[in-house]
Amino acid sequence: MQFDDQVWLVSGASTGIGLEIARALAACGARVALAARSADALQREAAALAARGLQALAVPMDIRSDEAVAAGIARVLDTWGRLDGIANVAGNGGTLSRWCDAPSHGTESMFAVHVLGAERVLRAALPALVRQRRSVVVNFASTVAWVPMPGAAAYSAAKAAVVALSDAWRAELAPLGVDVRVFAPPHTRTEAGLAWPLPLPKVFEPQWVAQAFVQSLRRGAARSVPGGNGALLALQRLSPGLARRIMQRIGFEALRRVEAAA
Ligand SMILES: NC(=O)c1ccc[n+]([C@@H]2O[C@H](COP(=O)([O-])OP(=O)(O)OC[C@H]3O[C@@H](n4cnc5c(N)ncnc54)[C@H](OP(=O)(O)O)[C@@H]3O)[C@@H](O)[C@H]2O)c1
Repeated sequence: MQFDDQVWLVSGASTGIGLEIARALAACGARVALAARSADALQREAAALAARGLQALAVPMDIRSDEAVAAGIARVLDTWGRLDGIANVAGNGGTLSRWCDAPSHGTESMFAVHVLGAERVLRAALPALVRQRRSVVVNFASTVAWVPMPGAAAYSAAKAAVVALSDAWRAELAPLGVDVRVFAPPHTRTEAGLAWPLPLPKVFEPQWVAQAFVQSLRRGAARSVPGGNGALLALQRLSPGLARRIMQRIGFEALRRVEAAA
């Protein structure tokens, strides 16, 4: 896959994994629109990329707003006239907590960003993506979409919904030339990632995840689960009870750590 002259929109590009993905795509020659709510951070990064001779545009938007998303997509099209790809990265897992202790609107807010936000961006961008005849949309999931984790019930459910929608969109939109994919990062050293004290042997760097993302784009993988978590998904197919027990052990230990630190 060649990125030269392609136009990509990366949501969640003000920090963390989305920021590193925006940098990686720009370094590959793509023109990159950086989207998130933090306008100053986006402007700073777009200026830093431009200073390196790369093409970047800050597109502040809250993906929970129809108007903001429509205006952001229109800005990208006014600037560059096309849209070849979207990385729907925006969102984070919040704080781990038992479902009965979580705020009553917790599930609703998780779905508002991860599920409805990604859907809103796709809906607004779809005419441009179809016009391009060959375009890619990558929605960000997590291993817990397939093996839900105690302490993150709403997040697990939201990511499961992202996977289900993506699989259905993939089938429906393929004839229109829009290739919908899913990418599930491993446990990553970002502010959101470190808020979950998971008992795992390794925390991946966001730069590593961004490179894995670019490689998955080049491979054309419909579903990419880098960093070893594919093994858990394989185990889930062979022995769902064992995979569930492993994830429960991870979730309850992380919850114990959060509660001990409180
Ligand atoms: N880190 C991990 O270990 C891990 C593991 C598996 C999956 N993931 C997934 O990977 C993605 C990125 O995670 P991360 O760790 O990089 O998170 P992060 O560091 O918290 O970054 C989240 C990004 O999303 C943006 N965002 C949040 N709400 C938004 C909204 N309403 N509208 C627009 N932008 C919004 C934030 O920017 P503003 O605050 O400026 O809006 C920020 O740029 C998420 O989908 C997460 O669920 C992460």
